[in-house]
Amino acid sequence: MIQQTLVLIKPDGLKKSLTGNILTRLSETKLEIVAAKIIRVSRELAIQHYWHMEERPFFEELIKYIQGELHGRKKVLAMVYHGENAIEKVRTLAGATNPEEADSVSIRGSFGRITTKGLYENAIHCSDNEKNAEREIKLWFFPDEIIVDMYNSEIKEIDNFKKKVWK
Ligand code: PPS
Repeated sequence: MIQQTLVLIKPDGLKKSLTGNILTRLSETKLEIVAAKIIRVSRELAIQHYWHMEERPFFEELIKYIQGELHGRKKVLAMVYHGENAIEKVRTLAGATNPEEADSVSIRGSFGRITTKGLYENAIHCSDNEKNAEREIKLWFFPDEIIVDMYNSEIKEIDNFKKKVWK
């Protein structure tokens, strides 16, 4: 099944200079990167991304973390990987969300940690199912930033400019 998945290299991953290492590991999947950008994460984007965690006690810390406020790196590398069973392939290499439960050779097992406040700093985010992948990809990317047509979009005129937006 051809799928796509959102992959984020989070501020701790960038600070620890893990980008090359993580991309090399993910290249084992033979998936294609069809979108990539460095992005300064706004509070609104962070909250929308982690909307389902809003009731958790560590929510504010999670928002600060993805915005780079805990690492002095106010950026995230956002990518879309595309291909056969993309979601499972990336998640297997990423390892379990909790870095202490992750396989020690996985990305999170190798590079993740749990802070004294109980926050997982796990270097990488990847979508966990097709529904979330669609929601997350549409949240982080405009249609024109992705080189493969994957979800329905439409042309809208905004301030006299024609722009492709998600339907
Ligand atoms: S759920 O409801 O636990 O299944 O949520 P999940 O979809 O796995 O996403 C949880 C995200 O919050 C990050 N996070 C933590 N989760 C649980 N416990 C603690 N202490 C915690 N700290 C951070 C977790 O890393 C998930 O984010 P991503 O970006 O997917 O790693």
